[in-house]
Amino acid sequence: MQIHIVQDAEAGGVVAADAVQRVLEEQRATGPVLGLATGSSPLPAYAELIRRHREEGLSFAAARAFLLDEYVGLPDEHEQSYHRFIREQLISAIDMPDENVASPDGTASDPHAEAAAYDRRIAEAGGVDLQILGIGSNGHIAFNEPGSSLGSRTRVVGLTRSTIADNSRYFASREDVPVQALSQGLGTILEARRIVLVASGENKAAAVAQLVEGGISSRWPATVLQMHPEVLVVVDEAAASRLELHEDYRHERALEEGELASRRR
Ligand code: F6R
Repeated sequence: MQIHIVQDAEAGGVVAADAVQRVLEEQRATGPVLGLATGSSPLPAYAELIRRHREEGLSFAAARAFLLDEYVGLPDEHEQSYHRFIREQLISAIDMPDENVASPDGTASDPHAEAAAYDRRIAEAGGVDLQILGIGSNGHIAFNEPGSSLGSRTRVVGLTRSTIADNSRYFASREDVPVQALSQGLGTILEARRIVLVASGENKAAAVAQLVEGGISSRWPATVLQMHPEVLVVVDEAAASRLELHEDYRHERALEEGELASRRR
């Protein structure tokens, strides 16, 4: 796991956008497959990708994308559906064809069958080359709440009270927040070839400390990422504030950047 501590969320967005750009360039011939998170954490990265598309010609035309999750019961056009969110925040502003963006269907008549079909669709696309993740204040990734099996697959999940409270800021009231979601499982997420997790703000500090330095446990589902060989954790100062080895991560990062700079010379 690589830890990159940045000044603020915007700087984190640039680091995450660099990782996405690298995959787009490396996989251009085969068609890159991106895993996209919704929520507020990836927005600076998406803003930076949109800027690069507009100003530098970064193209997503050959790319496909899979979302992590969707609320059960919300139709695509609902203003809080993740289907709509990703189009408003990213897809409508870049050149990725709309039909290349997949998400679980929250209104499927058989959500369990839809969950299994979603895992198959990801596999048929050749798997995810780069997965962008946020993290919940309780350590969830996608909607894998505490207690989720570390090997779980895409499935119907219940949202915890803390997630409903966190997400109620997007809805008229807490009662309007759906109580279930279709979510990629932890096992599904681990199959992505590379992962970039972005977090900012003090309310993520406890979850980030567990993610990086805690024991692997379904109590903090994100800790399963410690098992993945290619994870980059991009955190701002506030989200990094409870990391015990904060200074060591900074030091390692400085060494890596120094080495990269000397190789470029
Ligand atoms: C979103 C998702 C969630 C969020 C997490 C953090 O697709 O799967 O796990 O990444 O709830 O949300 P924000 O970024 O809004 O703090």
